[in-house]
Amino acid sequence: MSNTTTAHVGKHDHTILVVHGPNLNMLGTREPDVYGTQTLDDINRMLAKVAERREVNLVTYQSNIEGDIITVIQQYASKSDGLIINPAGYTHTSVAIRDALVLYPEPIVEVHLSNIYNREDFRKDSLMSPVTTGTISGFGADSYRLALMWLAHILEHDDQGH
Ligand code: DQA
Repeated sequence: MSNTTTAHVGKHDHTILVVHGPNLNMLGTREPDVYGTQTLDDINRMLAKVAERREVNLVTYQSNIEGDIITVIQQYASKSDGLIINPAGYTHTSVAIRDALVLYPEPIVEVHLSNIYNREDFRKDSLMSPVTTGTISGFGADSYRLALMWLAHILEHDDQGH
């Protein structure tokens, strides 16, 4: 698989998979007025800190290749307790990634750095949204942070309920 980023698999009971889609490896220099100046490494480091604080394991993955994104979702379907995905350009085109999400049994948060609803018309349609738990769009890197905090929150709550 291409462009695998650091995996922070650790000691906690729950694992969250974060999948970054195509061109997100270029963050920092890619349209900084739209996507901000933080690099993907910066975002992953921030998420790792949140994960540590909230006591969940974190696996982060980036690929520019549709099939690789599908494979990692399949691989983690039974090895993770929640998924955060920014499908990037595939948001608007990929029936195949959407189909993989349908097979993922745990909560899924779709995230976007930019607000996809106040940009070009073609970005307003997400093929993913109907099959995800919810979408966080428009808060820059904090879209990921909020997604992770919510997942950690419900996983913690889950434990208390059992
Ligand atoms: C994006 C929005 C998509 O429309 C775009 O193709 C991206 C990034 C976002 O994070 O704002 O690559 O998913």
